[in-house]
Amino acid sequence: MNEYNQMFDHHWSLYQKILHHNYMGHDQIYSVFEQDIVTRKQTPFSFLDIGCGDAQTITGRLKSTAINAYTGIDLSADALAHAHTFVTPLNVQTHLVNNDFEEALCDLVKQNTQFDVIFSGFALHHLAPEQRMLTFQNIFQLLDKGGCFYLIDVYPHRDETREAYLDRYLAKPMTQWNELNETEKTILNDHVRGSDFPACKDTLIEIATESGFSSIQCLFEDDEHANILMAFTK
Ligand SMILES: C[S@@+](CC[C@H](N)C(=O)[O-])C[C@H]1O[C@@H](n2cnc3c(N)ncnc32)[C@H](O)[C@@H]1O
Repeated sequence: MNEYNQMFDHHWSLYQKILHHNYMGHDQIYSVFEQDIVTRKQTPFSFLDIGCGDAQTITGRLKSTAINAYTGIDLSADALAHAHTFVTPLNVQTHLVNNDFEEALCDLVKQNTQFDVIFSGFALHHLAPEQRMLTFQNIFQLLDKGGCFYLIDVYPHRDETREAYLDRYLAKPMTQWNELNETEKTILNDHVRGSDFPACKDTLIEIATESGFSSIQCLFEDDEHANILMAFTK
């Protein structure tokens, strides 16, 4: 088990608290995702969710879509145990994979699996910078022709150092996320400083272009929460 994932392995209730108070801006960005997928995918589609967590937010947004199969990958067994509850009401074929997503994606590529839609919400920033390209290449391989990869993630400004980004990002949780107690703030601070390596928008565009994606759209940027929603089409 990777040590960096301790926050999600042992403190899933802390993340649920963050979601409950919409501290990361899930409501706004997932709402834009929902509007886009409802219009983009009107026929039945299979869906891969990378770093799905408990799948609570995403399944709420997929209810009004034509989804017919859901695969979720997550390293946290605790989160996946909750995911069953949230995916069941979708009433679709379901596959939950408890593994590191880099390994799981390689396995799926080896099995020649294909998806119509691939999604990742607030998870790929855990990739080490040198692993990003392989992950995007695997995602490209796993998509059917015409398929779409949606990425929601935190992102630094162009030319912002990691240190400057971390200080900017963490200023709000430390001073304004008032429902978190001091212990929870310390866990969060340690997790983000130790495990977050987000890519800026230009880097994401560069990697996606090199991986072969034909169309790249930025659907939403939320500077207040440092979040971005991008759609990459094969
Ligand atoms: C911030 S949560 C995001 C959950 C959900 N997708 C959302 O948008 O709210 C990040 C999730 O990624 C998972 N994760 C982080 N690194 C991972 C890895 N290398 N392999 C698989 N899952 C990972 C964590 O366990 C956690 O559930």
